[in-house]
Amino acid sequence: MSNFDAVELIIAKREKGELTTEQIDWLVANYTSGFVADEQMSSMAMAILLNGMSRREISDLTKAMIASGERLNYSDLPWPTADKHSTGGVGDKITLMLAPLVAVFDVAVPQLSGRGLGHTGGTLDKLEAISGWQANLTNEQMHAQLAKIGAVICAAGAGLAPADKKLYALRDVTGTVEAIPLIASSIMSKKIAEGTSSLVLDVKVGSGAFMKTLDRARELAQVLVAIGQDAGVKTSALLTDMSTPLGVKVGNALEVAEAIEVLQGGGPSDVVEITVELAREMLRLAGKSDVDVAVALNDGRAFDVFTAMIEAQHGDLSVPLPVAKHSHQVVASTSGVLTELDALAVGTASWRLGAGRARKEDPVQFGAGIELHAKRGARVSAGQPLMTLHTDEPERFERALAALDGGFKIEATAGPAVALILDRISG
Ligand code: URA
Repeated sequence: MSNFDAVELIIAKREKGELTTEQIDWLVANYTSGFVADEQMSSMAMAILLNGMSRREISDLTKAMIASGERLNYSDLPWPTADKHSTGGVGDKITLMLAPLVAVFDVAVPQLSGRGLGHTGGTLDKLEAISGWQANLTNEQMHAQLAKIGAVICAAGAGLAPADKKLYALRDVTGTVEAIPLIASSIMSKKIAEGTSSLVLDVKVGSGAFMKTLDRARELAQVLVAIGQDAGVKTSALLTDMSTPLGVKVGNALEVAEAIEVLQGGGPSDVVEITVELAREMLRLAGKSDVDVAVALNDGRAFDVFTAMIEAQHGDLSVPLPVAKHSHQVVASTSGVLTELDALAVGTASWRLGAGRARKEDPVQFGAGIELHAKRGARVSAGQPLMTLHTDEPERFERALAALDGGFKIEATAGPAVALILDRISG
């Protein structure tokens, strides 16, 4: 590998220059090994945030981060593979239904997931609410489960894109999380290294999402799809609304309960709609457009795969899900239409109740969270329960209620309807 000087590369990007493939390879390899120092990489991350990167640079950065670790491969399976990545939202339990639903149609889903940080929950935290369920699998166990059941949701091992782990931690403390080239290469390096042959991105838009506006979300989605194409992974994106929570349950065990309702043919219509749309898109990319997705949620086939997937990881669905020790009801102060129910307010309140964590080593309370009794757009009467807050520690109610202050509005007339699926971007 050629030798470069980190300071020269930082200055080149500071002056809005384009880094070459060799320079990017060198930078990532030497940052991973510790030769390029954290302060140099933070300066580079800030230069990227301010001056951007070309499509070629972002693809090169992604490839270099993939090359920093191992790359899984499922080409020996008799089925195509497909995965989904969500940029994260409030009440977003879609993965729990989606992986088994897609597997019903002989498309394998290798889903490496993470834990929540801040107001958005993580899929692993949700599944750990199920008694005995194990998040950590070896690559061999993951492969064997995929070959047997067709779906696996587990923790990403330390060997996958280690450059991203190091860079993400640095971005978190240097004000450089929001740079689209860095977000896109971070997401895509992990998904491509995971070995899926097609990928659908659920890019959330709104107060509860990373991307607050449709324009920013569209820009991110276009870059993500372009990187996937450059890496030979069939990729498309849906832009979906995250200005209000998904479904009526927010919090780990509560969301597992809602996922099971959907897998048994019930559940809230917005959760069912997004699940079905994402499943159709994953199956389309995997070459199966002619299947009836919705029926597999209603006839128990997706639930059967879910049960097998949970049991294979030692989860016991016969043990009741954890329930928080204390609850508090919020009621409507007046009659009218619930015109606003803000995702960030509900997500932050749920986090403060104990469903989420402030530092990555903190534990979560499985039973904590919020049950919504009315969704945005519903007509409500004075005194009617709007939501129930749950926690093991009642002293948390005060700060959770403070987060909800101003987060919902009751007005005389309904506001304009907001579409759930805002746009689609295909490769
Ligand atoms: N998710 C990731 O994995 N990386 C980012 O940079 C942002 C969201």
